[in-house]
Amino acid sequence: MGADGLQPKPTILVTGGAGYIGSHAVLALEKAGYQVVILDNLVYGHEDLVKQTLQAKLVVGDITDRALLDTLFATYNVAAVMHFAAYIAVGESVTDPAKYYHNNVVGALTLMEAMLAASVKRFVFSSTCAIYGPPKTVPIPEDHPQNPISPYAVSKLMVEKILADFGRAYNFQSVCFRYFNAAGADPDGRLGEDHTPETHLIPLVLFTALGRRESVSIFGTDYPTPDGTCVRDYIHVSDLATAHVLGLEYLLKGGTTEFFNLGNGNGFSVKQVIEIAQKVTGKSIVAIAQDRRPGDPPSLVGGSEKARKVLGWRPQYPNLEDIIAHAWQWHKYRHGNRV
Ligand SMILES: NC(=O)c1ccc[n+]([C@@H]2O[C@H](COP(=O)([O-])OP(=O)(O)OC[C@H]3O[C@@H](n4cnc5c(N)ncnc54)[C@H](O)[C@@H]3O)[C@@H](O)[C@H]2O)c1
Repeated sequence: MGADGLQPKPTILVTGGAGYIGSHAVLALEKAGYQVVILDNLVYGHEDLVKQTLQAKLVVGDITDRALLDTLFATYNVAAVMHFAAYIAVGESVTDPAKYYHNNVVGALTLMEAMLAASVKRFVFSSTCAIYGPPKTVPIPEDHPQNPISPYAVSKLMVEKILADFGRAYNFQSVCFRYFNAAGADPDGRLGEDHTPETHLIPLVLFTALGRRESVSIFGTDYPTPDGTCVRDYIHVSDLATAHVLGLEYLLKGGTTEFFNLGNGNGFSVKQVIEIAQKVTGKSIVAIAQDRRPGDPPSLVGGSEKARKVLGWRPQYPNLEDIIAHAWQWHKYRHGNRV
């Protein structure tokens, strides 16, 4: 029993918990009363943020290290795993697919095998809307055909398929969340996005506002969209984190393998993002039109009704102005003095 007379909540292992989305999920788990152990090799994670902001125990190590995983499961009474650890750069996955299949697929499989050996059979997985490939219908529903076009996206779909088989064969139950574009930062300013290299639009726009970059590129201005630039669905990282806690609780209550889109249902064009960022920051942001990038669909917007219905998920920050304002507060704090 805990001090309040209630059963203490179980321990959750969060891989990649020192990264952008994982750290926000750890914060949400801690707010909900869970004990958290983070496993992160810190290749892209930030130890300083974990130490400053989170209570979780940080184990520095790799998901491909089976001996370490066995020790972890023997040491901590883990009830479920949230798996964020992966490489995430789509372009790099095209030039170096081995790196992506090894980390994202072999790493996930090693983790799942260690879980099976320890009889830990609940798993929340970071998947991506990129598994659908170029959309045939927008908003994209969960049953949209799957036609991933990058090794990164294929690696995520492979893990989803392994999870479906594990569910059938081993009673290993999972929730796969297919995120649209994660954006924003902890509204209290404690955590945020800090990728190196940064490839995501909102931080690049805000770096331009901060003077860390001279301009931001707009790749393609002749798409069949209202203003000719690509349209994307931006979902607040804290809303993603809340969905992960709901997905975990669904599994802890006996829920079986499921997959959910996590998006806002609203699309914003690259030009709209830049306009809203100018309004939020009060800075003028230089944007330069470039050619289209191969493989960029004109519009990617998700239908997330299933997560609302099954999990009771309600995004708290659907407004793009709030998302950009939280990201701006974070980047000024994190990078403002490095200009
Ligand atoms: N950022 C997005 O918009 C987005 C969209 C869809 C899906 N996702 C998925 O969400 C997850 C988290 O993304 P993110 O943006 O927070 O990325 P991130 O790079 O900030 O976080 C990933 C973390 O995993 C760690 N890591 C990587 N390989 C590891 C390994 N072998 N062992 C241990 N730790 C390892 C990194 O050090 C990092 O801290 C990823 O699985 C990604 O594919 C992200």
